[in-house]
Amino acid sequence: MSSFDLIIFGGLGDLSRRKLLPALYSGFVTKRVNSDSKIYLTSRSEVDQPVLEWLTGVFEVTPPACGIDTDMLAAFADMIEVVQISLSDEGEGWEALKEQLTDTARPLVHFLAIPPAFFTSTCALLGNYGLNGDNACVVLEKPLGHNRETAAEINNDVAQYFSEEQTFRIDHYLGKEAVQNLLALRFSNLLFEQLWNNQTIDHIQITIAEDLGVEGRGGFYEGTGALKDMVQNHLLQLLCFIAMEPPARLDAQGIREEKLKVLKSLRPLEGMEIDQNVVRGQYKAGAMAGSAVKSYLDDLGLDKSETDSFVAIKAHIENWRWAGVPFYLRTGKRLPERFAEIVIQFKDVPHASDPRWHTNMQPNRFIIRLQPEDHLAMRMMIKDDKEDRAALREVELNLDVTGADDGTRLGPYLRLMLDAARGDQSLFVHRDEVDLAWQWIDRITKHWKANPGSIKTYQSGTWGPYEAHDLMKRDQRDWYHDAKDV
Ligand code: BG6
Repeated sequence: MSSFDLIIFGGLGDLSRRKLLPALYSGFVTKRVNSDSKIYLTSRSEVDQPVLEWLTGVFEVTPPACGIDTDMLAAFADMIEVVQISLSDEGEGWEALKEQLTDTARPLVHFLAIPPAFFTSTCALLGNYGLNGDNACVVLEKPLGHNRETAAEINNDVAQYFSEEQTFRIDHYLGKEAVQNLLALRFSNLLFEQLWNNQTIDHIQITIAEDLGVEGRGGFYEGTGALKDMVQNHLLQLLCFIAMEPPARLDAQGIREEKLKVLKSLRPLEGMEIDQNVVRGQYKAGAMAGSAVKSYLDDLGLDKSETDSFVAIKAHIENWRWAGVPFYLRTGKRLPERFAEIVIQFKDVPHASDPRWHTNMQPNRFIIRLQPEDHLAMRMMIKDDKEDRAALREVELNLDVTGADDGTRLGPYLRLMLDAARGDQSLFVHRDEVDLAWQWIDRITKHWKANPGSIKTYQSGTWGPYEAHDLMKRDQRDWYHDAKDV
């Protein structure tokens, strides 16, 4: 990758420290980030500590996956400069920044790791200083609004200074290796694509489970909840990648057009349908890994809250390919373990050729594991070689996609920052997708607001409220992961 200039607005903040800088360091060590590149971290206040010292402290808390080499760290610190600027006013800092960014042949990436309330003023200042030329792009980190209207406001404001081609809305789930692989898998294997429809697929499950609670993010989370924090973006994006038609070309335009069609085909949930098909929950106190943990309310010091830390949804895509195939989506905090997984469950065989097979026949399942490891598995039936000829056994055809990460793997944030620098929008979200996703989500949040009291609780360390299991059970189905653990 050729050299670039990257400005991280909110450069000393949480996202920058936990994700962006460790990712950039790994990129530097693995030679994906050229040492001629320059990284500017903006800060409101003056920083009187040398960059290397500050960075050493940062990496003690969130070490890069590749580990730390002292010489490399010193060389990486040399690429970084902290610039003191205000995000709402012009000033000396901006002048100094502009003077350094005169090489318009180099990509200039503005990463807005700041609250959206500052997006407009920051983009306006970038415009005023002429830092929005053809070589520049802006990367927007979520949350992109909290409903359709506020997202449109942000997008309109940013559009005054950066064209859609220059605007990169990040969803870090799209940078995960397994999501990349999903496209390769679907569109480079005849085998899958021929079976990828309602003729053979019974239903699809997408789970993103987290074991942590809201931790230090209570203030943000209380006004957000799992539906807006996870479903509006990550889960709906995964659903799009699973459900979209093969694009004529796997480029940004091709992928985005197909994702849009999926979002347009999502059956809107209204009124009573929301009560029947959406479960929202909030964690109570419980135990995680043998230690007692507090409830959501106690974590936040609240007496009352209807914020969802868990949500499960049964959704439908109304088109020829997917008519009649439910998509079960769920995500939650304080669940027993952290994992993200897509389960494609195929239909039962139409006829058991040997009636004795009925006893243990299982449908085929294709399991795409996104984290903590990248893994593909096909669950199939074979004859049980230890039993007589009527006995069947379920086996797993395993594809360990990338093996263990030795720290050299391209992580999601690095992949996405490099894509932004080379102007590739394939893994970024178009404003129309944001709009359609919010439209679908807004119906649910409005219904919840108008009908308080429907939130269920679940004990920390369990798989969410009973109603989430019932969502499956009443269709004679199970959440694959939980049933497997029993
Ligand atoms: C973020 C959410 O977008 O994704 C967090 O705001 C969540 O609440 C996180 O914890 C999960 O990401 P990952 O990659 O750790 O699964």
